Amino acid sequence: MTHSEHDLLIIGGGVAGLTLALEAANYRDVTLLNPGLSALGASRWAQGGIAAVLDPQDAIEAHVQDTLVAGDGLCDESAVRFTVEHGHEAIDWLISLGVPFTPDTAMEARYPYHLTREGGHGARRIIHAADATGQALIDTLTERVRQASGIHVIDRLSAAQLLRNEEGHCCGALCLDDHDQAFALVARDTVLATGGASGLYLHTTSPSPACGEGMAMAAELGATLMNLEFQQFHPTCLYDPAGTPFLISEAVRGEGGLLRTIDGHRFMPDYDARAELAPRDIVARAIHGEILKGAAEHVLLDITHLDAKAIREHFPTIHAHCLSRGLDITRQPIPVVPAAHYSCGGIATDTNGKSDIPHLYAIGEVAYTGLHGANRMASNSLLECLVYARSAAQAMRQPAGKSELRPINLPNLQGSCVHEGIDTAVHALRRIMSDSAGIVRSDAGLAAGRCALGKLHDEYSYLGLDQPVRLAHFRLRHMLSLASMMLELASARRESRGLHFNRDCPHHQPEPTPSRISRR
Ligand code: SIN
Repeated sequence: MTHSEHDLLIIGGGVAGLTLALEAANYRDVTLLNPGLSALGASRWAQGGIAAVLDPQDAIEAHVQDTLVAGDGLCDESAVRFTVEHGHEAIDWLISLGVPFTPDTAMEARYPYHLTREGGHGARRIIHAADATGQALIDTLTERVRQASGIHVIDRLSAAQLLRNEEGHCCGALCLDDHDQAFALVARDTVLATGGASGLYLHTTSPSPACGEGMAMAAELGATLMNLEFQQFHPTCLYDPAGTPFLISEAVRGEGGLLRTIDGHRFMPDYDARAELAPRDIVARAIHGEILKGAAEHVLLDITHLDAKAIREHFPTIHAHCLSRGLDITRQPIPVVPAAHYSCGGIATDTNGKSDIPHLYAIGEVAYTGLHGANRMASNSLLECLVYARSAAQAMRQPAGKSELRPINLPNLQGSCVHEGIDTAVHALRRIMSDSAGIVRSDAGLAAGRCALGKLHDEYSYLGLDQPVRLAHFRLRHMLSLASMMLELASARRESRGLHFNRDCPHHQPEPTPSRISRR
């Protein structure tokens, strides 16, 4: 197996990984593993924008309180304050890099860029680049990374497993190329920026979601994971059974879009006084409930009250995509359904992205910082990527202590294994997760899910999952491992809170408690 030695290894090239690479390159030699050939990863597909206190009439305290309310009692207030307080400077940094945010041309504008509104936010505080903010960020950051000296980008390898030394410290990653040839990238510090776990579900808002590989790899090393049961479903994904998954941004509701049943009833006021701008868990559950009533497989999101020019200007990507699918959103309501979108839990980290495994960091959706609690508020995720990537870069100015570069326990990759069955197993796993750990859960459903996952593992053990040698097998093993941890934590939570709704225990427990799991 080929070995190479690195100072700082960042795994993942979304907004978190790219930001950290740019900031850390001022002090460290950076290797950025970016197997996500441009279209992969969730960042690029983010439409809405970045939440931050930018309007002089908005207030830090208001953003903090809105986040705490959306998080349904489970946010870590210090993490919320830390994130919100560092929002403005993170946006200033992006502006200095040239991100093409949409300007506000109104005479009465109090801030040079347009601020939109989304669910849970009591003020206009979402800065955006029309309706393709993620794309604009990735394009700008990628270009800057290309120009930077001191960042070595590797795009032909994918991480399969983290490496540890004798003391249990992380010291890099075992990676495979497209031909399953193995490389040991040995590193002083390793950062996971690999995204969330929505790919454990059948229907997602992203065409190429992460499947929790980073969380599972960290767990394998003994890292603590927290709040895995809080999987967010975005309320409005385009209902298009024959097409690829496509998000309809929450900003559509922020600009006045109304949700109706197919016979025209505006149902959100029946569920919550904040109606279409209630936090996501509430809107997704309401839509799920309306669909279960049986009239149709979707509901409608209607933005036709805005004039056509405004729709085309504000939502050019959504307008063009829908038109390509035969739907003119300036004249017709949009058929929508909820779909898996974001993992609120992940690898437990501090405000510098440090996990509880020495020399292992996690930033972005793969991490649990305490910001989102039981339900992430819209557009707080890109903010979290930026703020924690920048603070991690500061914390890593110097390599922390001396780390032994030579790893031990390199896996034996001499075996052989078959490929047949992998896709079938992945599909079966996604079916199990969608049926048992979706928007509405039950004790019996969760128990059935755990049992089915166990059987799935046994049924496919002939693939050599305990000693994988191919990337596809590592991935399936990671998915099985993370899915079983998610179901374990979901079964153990004896209440309903935020995104975790169990109809057999529909109330809050008096003391909100985050969940944790460690395979150490
Ligand atoms: C959206 O535009 O609705 C997605 C943004 C987010 O998930 O925060």
